[in-house]
Amino acid sequence: MDIGVTIFDHILSNQKLNPGATGAFTRLLMAIVVAAKVVQRDVAKAGLVDVLGRAGSINVQGEEVQKLDEIANQALKSLLWSSGEVCTLISEEEADLIEIPRQFKRGNYLVHFDPLDGSSNIDANVSIGTIFSIYRRVTPPEMDAGLQDALQQGMRQVAAGYIIYGSSCMLVYSTGYGVHGFTLDASVGEFLLSHPSIRIPSRGKIYSTNESNYRYWDEGTRNYIDWLKDPEAGHAKPYTSRYIGSLVADFHRNLLYGGIFLYPADLRDPHKPRGKLRLMCEANPMSFICEQAGGLATTGSERVLEIQPTEIHQRVPLIVGSCEDVQTYQDFMARARGRSAG
Ligand code: AHG
Ligand code: MN
Ligand code: MN
Repeated sequence: MDIGVTIFDHILSNQKLNPGATGAFTRLLMAIVVAAKVVQRDVAKAGLVDVLGRAGSINVQGEEVQKLDEIANQALKSLLWSSGEVCTLISEEEADLIEIPRQFKRGNYLVHFDPLDGSSNIDANVSIGTIFSIYRRVTPPEMDAGLQDALQQGMRQVAAGYIIYGSSCMLVYSTGYGVHGFTLDASVGEFLLSHPSIRIPSRGKIYSTNESNYRYWDEGTRNYIDWLKDPEAGHAKPYTSRYIGSLVADFHRNLLYGGIFLYPADLRDPHKPRGKLRLMCEANPMSFICEQAGGLATTGSERVLEIQPTEIHQRVPLIVGSCEDVQTYQDFMARARGRSAG
């Protein structure tokens, strides 16, 4: 029976492209694959065992942590530790760099992750996800890994990906050689290559944003959204609005169908524009994947992957999607900047 290309085969064949490869990176990715299966199992039975609902504590971002967030966080930590290939971990759910317990071997990689993205959707059985972003350490191996390792520009990611727990469970990743999607075949317990070399359409028909924040956006963003909805604007086809409120699910749909996702800066306090999404565990990995698929990602004023991070839990505006859609958005932003300067 031919079951197709497993994710293990795929990672291994990538490893063979690199003659200096030691297998370390392959072991690291495989630890994430196992974590994905563990979290998928727990998400799928969330309604059966009593893991639904809130755990009652507040995470470092000031948000309520839900039980599945903790389960996913723990699964990723323990499987990544066991791989022996990480020097530190950074989770959306934890304030500081996560040290590697003494009993585990240390490696040369570090992983930023959002263990469960879209967790406010859990109780309604809406798609949620896990996001990961991998870097090589920059400090010498005999030192403890620190902020210098954790705060690297997104363009230095060696891999990034996400798992979506949806109508099926998919893992999408890139190591800088295109974007590849795998679907979990539960009957054999393997992720099988279902979406090789994903390319995002150069222009889409979908925009995804929490439009209730409209009045707190800058002029360029408001003008752009008005233009998308304007029947007189001369679009080939009118844009349609789709917003789930799970970044992974909104991004994944737009990656396959084409479109633009926007979480712009909030100007409620005009002196302190605030992004919502986290640079290291949300914006950078999605931007890396999108660019690898032929799309673009910006904050409105700069390329996300070029931001020099200053804090591990830094938040940024994120506008990501089809290349021509993001370019049109940037044109609106440039025109608005020109007007306010002139
Ligand atoms: P998380 O569940 O990891 O905290 O992330 C939630 C994020 C992201 O998934 C989504 O795009 C965004 O929050 C939704 O925000 P709004 O509810 O403000 O639209
Ligand atoms: Mn998230
Ligand atoms: Mn989360």
